[in-house]
Amino acid sequence: TTPAQLAAAIPKAELHIHIEGSLEPELIFALAQRNGLSLPYPSVEALRDAYAFTNLQSFLDIYYAGASVLLHEADFHDMAWAYFLRAKADNVVHTEIFFDPQTHTARGVPMATVIQGLSSACERARAELGVSAALILCFLRHLSEDDAFATLEAALPYRQHFIGVGLDSSEVGHPPSKFSRVFARCRELGFHVVAHAGEEGPPAYIREAIDDLKTERIDHGVRSLEDPALVAELARRRIPLTVCPLSNLKLCVVDDLRQHPMKRLLDAGLCATVNSDDPAYFGGYMNANFVQTVEALDLSRDDVITLARNSFEASFVSATRRAELM
Ligand code: HPA
Ligand code: ZN
Repeated sequence: TTPAQLAAAIPKAELHIHIEGSLEPELIFALAQRNGLSLPYPSVEALRDAYAFTNLQSFLDIYYAGASVLLHEADFHDMAWAYFLRAKADNVVHTEIFFDPQTHTARGVPMATVIQGLSSACERARAELGVSAALILCFLRHLSEDDAFATLEAALPYRQHFIGVGLDSSEVGHPPSKFSRVFARCRELGFHVVAHAGEEGPPAYIREAIDDLKTERIDHGVRSLEDPALVAELARRRIPLTVCPLSNLKLCVVDDLRQHPMKRLLDAGLCATVNSDDPAYFGGYMNANFVQTVEALDLSRDDVITLARNSFEASFVSATRRAELM
């Protein structure tokens, strides 16, 4: 087996996937039709042609527009189920899924609709596919901390359906410290805590995430390499980075996959993992990310095994499920 074949075949966990980012153009159109909505694009092809991004914000604008077709519990369920089928095909055996409730509650969709639709798909994935799945509620960082508190409050009646909280959306200008109080509350409540940092934002945001929010993982974190002392600390404390190579390429964080920092992150001893971020928008699911990264960077079989092992080490799986998987 080549390293790329091993990457495709090896069992792995996915830890950085926004479920709204798994909404394929075909499903966006199907849900729009089912819900009697019209879209500002004439066809699936025209929508897909609009997926030419220059930075994070240019992507987020179209990502939030796509999510506007989600109205009913079945819509959330169907979206997540389509992702689980793709995950299963890529030998993903465990996945921790971000969702953005504020994107939906701001449009009048009840919190219960969002969480119950996603949660029932997670249970079905475990039962029918043998894929374990958990949900992580993300706060939108371009909104206020008060809005995040209100979102937490609205979600607490469903707290058994999600294991943690995260922080996503427009990074620059919205440092992690903006959310110190709400993350402190979430930690008190016993939730796992993660945050996007160092995707477009500076290494100082990664430092704030770990020092101020006390996050257990960093989502992206590729800009950590600009601060050697920070890299040393992330390595020493085994704070994982959930890296998304095709996302970095499509959002112009790197110009070419051959310049992707994954190899440098591994060589620095970091617990880096491969993930798809928003696979419907960035050109591929888990194995597309894994195989293309292995080929572009000429990663070895040992690197592949390290990445797969890191994905389980970095996960929040229960001890019993971990024993099954490792
Ligand atoms: N970064 C920030 N917010 C996001 C992303 C991302 O990569 N994907 C979906 N929301
Ligand atoms: Zn992300």
